[in-house]
Amino acid sequence: MSRLNPVDLITKKRDGGEHTPEELHFLVQGMVDGSIPDYQLAAWAMAVYFQGMSDAEATQLTLAMANSGDTLDLRGALATGALAPGALIVDKHSSGGVGDKTTLAVGPIVAACGLPVGKMSGRGLSFSGGTIDKLESISGWSPDLSEERFRQQLQEIGLVIAGQTADLAPADKHLYALRDVTGTVPSLPLIAASIMSKKLAAGADAIVLDVKCGRGAFMENLDDARALARLMVAIGDGAGRKVTALITGMEQPLGNAVGNALEVQEAIETLHGRGPTDFQELVERVCAEMVLLGDPACGDLGAAQKRVREAIASGAALEKLVAFVAAQGGNPDEIRHPERLPRAPIARSLLAETAGFVHAIDAREIGLTVVELGGGRKRKGDAIDFGVGVVCQTKVGDRTTAGGALCTVYAADEASASIAVSRLRGAWRIADGPTAPLPVILDRITGD
Ligand code: URA
Repeated sequence: MSRLNPVDLITKKRDGGEHTPEELHFLVQGMVDGSIPDYQLAAWAMAVYFQGMSDAEATQLTLAMANSGDTLDLRGALATGALAPGALIVDKHSSGGVGDKTTLAVGPIVAACGLPVGKMSGRGLSFSGGTIDKLESISGWSPDLSEERFRQQLQEIGLVIAGQTADLAPADKHLYALRDVTGTVPSLPLIAASIMSKKLAAGADAIVLDVKCGRGAFMENLDDARALARLMVAIGDGAGRKVTALITGMEQPLGNAVGNALEVQEAIETLHGRGPTDFQELVERVCAEMVLLGDPACGDLGAAQKRVREAIASGAALEKLVAFVAAQGGNPDEIRHPERLPRAPIARSLLAETAGFVHAIDAREIGLTVVELGGGRKRKGDAIDFGVGVVCQTKVGDRTTAGGALCTVYAADEASASIAVSRLRGAWRIADGPTAPLPVILDRITGD
């Protein structure tokens, strides 16, 4: 019998105490085996929300959560000699945002640079889409792979994207569901432990974090995004993994397209080197950071960036996407001919009423509109309409003319197109004077 008891741990944290690793393991064990009731876990989460955690505590909590279920052995999945001496397996994680289709382009590029990418990805959540939903707009593509298939595809193609298994970090699954209904989601140590526990369990040696910041993201201001990034880098260090965090802008949608198949098309354009400027810049930077972390022979960021651009220009990255899609049952013709991907039948443009400059675009409102059009779920298990969405013809800093298109809505019918267009009118703020385009990369935080 453990001499620890939940009430003592709740009061200790309530009064600002620091947990020992043993106490944190006890709490995580209790989450997984059900021996600590939800009301006590919820009270403890609220105590953490108010009192915070030291970096050492957050690291121990993360490690205990990462080890609460299955862990992947990506290195063991590769044959001897498949990795160059000293090379690391690198993963990426984005905290999620509107129009964030980064994984769809980054995975193939990094794999084409010779670094294996084996990823677990999620589905959409609220206003923010999910990689698995986007990939499922390619007919036949499936995220369900046996461990053996995962291993084989990682070895043969160097790129696998699978759905999150229920047994990966089950403590997070339990705690996240409780936080969701007890007002304790916005606790930095709990967010950091939640994200990093899944990343550590997923088996990469090194991780590039894309922490989104702005109205279309989870962290709305730069100070909070920096604090979260610093904590996740510290947790990675404590767990013996290399982590680089980029803080990137999410005031307006990323790229132009929001909506599942529309975003796959935009990712394909980006692999041709013709993506929207902000998205192309972010993709190339995330890839370069991954190559820099993963390949000790790469040199500096400039050299990594050159390698990334070569993988795009040579067509190798696009071919990697084709091979990956085919390996997971998808129709590769839809990658070579993206016009064959699903597209909703009604296209309706939102027109500017006045000439001027775009000063703001409310990304969250666009994300919610796409959910309303049927591109996301309102309830767990809802079916998704892959062909609906919004394509922005203007971004912050662009000049508008009276009657010019600000964006185009793709909808299943006339009625939902009209509702979406009137809703989106409030999402664009147009004013007289010019304003600068928004920066993409706001900061970079490393463990050094
Ligand atoms: N994403 C996660 O996985 N967990 C959080 O707590 C927040 C965002």
